[in-house]
Amino acid sequence: MTISQTDLSPEDYRRIDRAHVWHPIFQHQALENTDLTVIKEAHGTTIIDSEGNQYLDALSGLWNVNVGYGRKQIADAVYEQMQQLSYYPLSQINVPATLLADKLAELLPGDLQHVFFSNSGSEANETSIKIARQYGRQKYPGQNRYKIIARYRGYHGFTYGAMSATGQTQRRKVFEPLVPGFLHAQPPYCYRCPLGKYHPECGVACADEIEQIVQWEGVDTVIAVIAEPIIGGGGVIVPPDDYLPKLREICDRYGLLLILDEVITGFGRTGAPFACEHWDVQPDIISLAKGLTSGYLPLGASVVTPEVFDVFRGAPDDYLEFAQVATYGGHPVTCAAGLANLNILTEERLWENSARVGSYLLDKLRVLQDLPVVGDIRGKGLMIGVELVNPDQSSLDTATTNKVVGMMRDRGILIGKVSHTMDEPENTIFLAPPLIVTTPEADRIFDSLRDVLSDM
Ligand SMILES: Cc1ncc(COP(=O)(O)O)c(C=O)c1O
Repeated sequence: MTISQTDLSPEDYRRIDRAHVWHPIFQHQALENTDLTVIKEAHGTTIIDSEGNQYLDALSGLWNVNVGYGRKQIADAVYEQMQQLSYYPLSQINVPATLLADKLAELLPGDLQHVFFSNSGSEANETSIKIARQYGRQKYPGQNRYKIIARYRGYHGFTYGAMSATGQTQRRKVFEPLVPGFLHAQPPYCYRCPLGKYHPECGVACADEIEQIVQWEGVDTVIAVIAEPIIGGGGVIVPPDDYLPKLREICDRYGLLLILDEVITGFGRTGAPFACEHWDVQPDIISLAKGLTSGYLPLGASVVTPEVFDVFRGAPDDYLEFAQVATYGGHPVTCAAGLANLNILTEERLWENSARVGSYLLDKLRVLQDLPVVGDIRGKGLMIGVELVNPDQSSLDTATTNKVVGMMRDRGILIGKVSHTMDEPENTIFLAPPLIVTTPEADRIFDSLRDVLSDM
């Protein structure tokens, strides 16, 4: 019997689920009064539940279903690959991993050429961080360059290294103590500048803070800066145009690696193949996941330049090789899914639709700026955040922001919001539909949001 033939009612699934499934960042006591939806099917941008209700998925799952749901081309590639070679470790060549690495090297900007595969965004960042630390020891022998500078509000994953780089109180504090050697600077959050300054007069002081940390810690102890080009789950924080170029300059000045976490922003989400291209900034290491397979199977990757890769070259008994292996890194089936997904992305040039429909939606949303509940509207491509406020401009409380999400859902639109980040109201909602979204669908998202926010 296949799963689709099981004949249980939604209530049966809920009963079994309540008994056994531990949902992430979810208060299970709430299940005493609430029913979770049983999601049954999805096609294109549409999710269908077990009662037959249809929803427009304006968050692409978790910002990852870039090519949309139900692509037969990916399902076929996975089916064929599973029959031909279901698994072999990457100690030898497997064809999908080789072809996917080649495709990534072609698609990525600049000379990001060498791909280390993992299984998620957290693992991709964990790997990028470990590459940076081993690089530091081998590139600068006699020094101890291991510290990594990240930003508050940034998110890099749930594993210990990636979580230590994460700058979100709620995702860290119950797991402390964290991995030593991670430092945090203020984010480029111009709407509520943590330094109390205004751009451009500030001269991007938040980037200067990173330089100051390097100097105060001692340059011979620091190896890398890690940053999302646009902070995602921390509130869709789009930096001013001079921020990322300045980070690059600081890294160059002190011999630091720039690790860009493009787990959300990669593969067309922001209207360019990769977000760093908006500012013409080249990272030394890029972390990828989510849109790499559009969520069809789990896959992550860290891609580095030849300059970084060369530091790991040596004779076998030099032990300079990157000291990490994962059973499933470069799995042939997940790589086949990735390859089919990237073929769709490039054949349909989906970043162009993301740029077009994204700026259409963002322009429309700007008229909502006059509503008292709307504080800030920001985004790039199909990565949009709307920060909600009280009439006195203070942050709207979390419960009322949750109500907005619920009212959108009642209108058949699934959106996201900031969740479990800082110890403060979580008042930014997210719009990030699949990159295939049409202008009529963008109109539906806009119309519903206008109605909901006008009623506040
Ligand atoms: C920017 C960023 N990096 C890393 C991650 C972690 O990815 P994963 O949940 O696949 O481990 C996420 C997840 O949302 C993310 O948004």
